[in-house]
Amino acid sequence: MHWKGLLTAAAFGPAAQAATMLRFSCSQLVVERLDPLVNPGQVPSPHLHQIVGGNGFNATMDSDAADLATVASCTTCTPAEDFSNYWTAVMFFKARNGTYHRVATKGNPLGFTAATGGQTVYYLSPGSQGSNVGGSGNAKVTAFRPGFRMTVGDPSFRSAAEIKKYPQLTYTCLQTSTTRGGETTNFPKAACKVGIMVNIRFPTCWDGKNVDSPDHQSHVAYPTGSGTSAGCPSTHPVRIPQVFYETIWDTSPFNDKALWPADGSQPFVWSFGDATGYGTHGDYVFGWKGDALQRAFDANCNSDLMGNNVNCPTLKTQTIQQGNQCSKKVTVRENLDGWMTTLPGGMTV
Ligand SMILES: *[C@@H]1O[C@H](CO)[C@@H](O)[C@H](O)[C@H]1NC(C)=O
Ligand SMILES: *[C@@H]1O[C@H](CO)[C@@H](O)[C@H](O)[C@H]1NC(C)=O
Repeated sequence: MHWKGLLTAAAFGPAAQAATMLRFSCSQLVVERLDPLVNPGQVPSPHLHQIVGGNGFNATMDSDAADLATVASCTTCTPAEDFSNYWTAVMFFKARNGTYHRVATKGNPLGFTAATGGQTVYYLSPGSQGSNVGGSGNAKVTAFRPGFRMTVGDPSFRSAAEIKKYPQLTYTCLQTSTTRGGETTNFPKAACKVGIMVNIRFPTCWDGKNVDSPDHQSHVAYPTGSGTSAGCPSTHPVRIPQVFYETIWDTSPFNDKALWPADGSQPFVWSFGDATGYGTHGDYVFGWKGDALQRAFDANCNSDLMGNNVNCPTLKTQTIQQGNQCSKKVTVRENLDGWMTTLPGGMTV
């Protein structure tokens, strides 16, 4: 089962009526060296992140602390009740002379161009458009509990063999804004005219008990089996929404091959020092207000695939421009602009 992308899925016709697909824009909140999951309380954390979502993001975010939806006062996401935080590493371009330049994110051309960077966020049920998790479209999906968090991926990975552990972390080389398919598990080897879209899909089965685990991963699992018969393993029996990030890194200013390494290799690196791409990873802290996310699933909402319409009357929404205005004070101040001799935190490639 290889998922060919949302546009292809749409071309095959609508999914089962009962399925749910929320798709929305979350503008960039802040870019800084904090990681409350992996390095709680550490200011600065070892590597740089881009964070979107609610302004309750902080160096420390304990799972038993106050509900994030009560801590945050605004969100960069268009569902106004979603105060979750979503974050990834940051992409850099490495020039021939060895200096680094940060790559900016841009709003998804399919509906979210008004966003000041950030990412597209999906919450998917099995069988929905864009879901590649398998299972029946009628499966009951249970929304996350306050305090829930998880990570996916492993920043220490540098090989195709290792990334097999996470079959749903991929790159799409955008030649046009609607390029789908041809996903790779490492950085694209050729220049991508419109940018590099980084796809991060989290596991969809939960142990039903723990909102976190020591490695932030073992309380969740991928389904077993494939197609419509795929189901959650007995150790992780509860179906949770598939959280899915699409982040579009605007690599277009760096597409001149004369700037690329003389040996023809690709020039992009992650903020944690990975030039392969196999170390891609994502972090998630749930922060929807009350039962808003469960209501959206119970109502089988289906957002626009290409436009900006959450299309879910049970949810309060705000405009992308309102989302752009939500901000958080930067905790770790350091230069992130221009040509830099080292990656932030001195991470080595
Ligand atoms: C972050 O945590 C500090 C220390 O616990 C607290 O003083 C501050 O208000 C928090 N910031 C936000 C945005 O919640
Ligand atoms: C390094 O290369 C970049 C890109 O070609 C260039 O803009 C920058 O000025 C160079 N820096 C130095 C110190 O040569």
